[in-house]
Amino acid sequence: MARLEGKVALVTGAARGIGAAIASLFGAEGAAVVVSDRRDELGEAVAQGICREGGRAIYEHLDIASEDGWREAVGRARAEFGGVDVLINNAGIIRVKPFVETTLEELRKVIDTNLVGAFLGMQAVVETMTARGGGSIVNFSSVQGLEGREGLAAYTAAKFGIRGLTKTVAIELGPHGIRVNALFPGPTKTKMTERKGWTDEQYDAAYRGYPLGRMGEAEEIARLALFLASDEASFCTGGDFVADGGVTAGKPRG
Ligand SMILES: NC(=O)c1ccc[n+]([C@@H]2O[C@H](COP(=O)([O-])OP(=O)(O)OC[C@H]3O[C@@H](n4cnc5c(N)ncnc54)[C@H](O)[C@@H]3O)[C@@H](O)[C@H]2O)c1
Repeated sequence: MARLEGKVALVTGAARGIGAAIASLFGAEGAAVVVSDRRDELGEAVAQGICREGGRAIYEHLDIASEDGWREAVGRARAEFGGVDVLINNAGIIRVKPFVETTLEELRKVIDTNLVGAFLGMQAVVETMTARGGGSIVNFSSVQGLEGREGLAAYTAAKFGIRGLTKTVAIELGPHGIRVNALFPGPTKTKMTERKGWTDEQYDAAYRGYPLGRMGEAEEIARLALFLASDEASFCTGGDFVADGGVTAGKPRG
């Protein structure tokens, strides 16, 4: 049986990158998928791709920093598919800037998207998940939610925040049968990490000193999200799940 048969999944930031890989994998594993993003054309294409492969999907415009947007998106999921069982809070942005040059506006933008977006999303699905007997929420952090990095003050603040938020919400929603986990991807080949003109070899060379010596593919992150979304993870909540090619394990000597 498909691993998400009978479930409805709402995936944010699903127009491209890791979110698109998750939406497609979930569609192939039997979930009805609400593909959501701000990039409507790309998002529509992801939803259509799932349907072409025989899955069920719709596209819904959703800016995750908007409370009204969340109300509408969950309302659409209810109307089309009967509710939400799985929420993947994947959408995120990154801004690289020295700490002293980061403006309050830039800090707020990153926090509003990467942290507040997940907060609002979780609040928006509690009622429907509770009514359906439980659910699974996966909040996207990053290896930069486990260790600091030069130029990423706002991003690390938000991604460390995701870890604490996840644990507290897991405690509060556990009694409703809702599992809440944090996923920490390492460097993964997407638009977010794209450098103009770089070849695959150049990307991997940047990580040669680490255990697996390469960047990850979006599908490799999607497979961990699939496990957490599915009933296979029935005893996992409040946890930290890392898929980083060993980047946070440390660098070998020499
Ligand atoms: N790529 C990596 O190396 C990496 C590493 C660690 C963590 N992550 C995290 O994984 C997640 C996905 O990253 P990615 O690499 O696929 O990035 P990406 O930039 O390729 O895709 C992100 C998607 O999120 C959407 N988005 C951004 N702000 C939004 C908003 N306010 N409302 C709705 N959608 C919005 C974008 O339109 C885009 O489609 C992010 O949370 C990111 O921080 C990525």
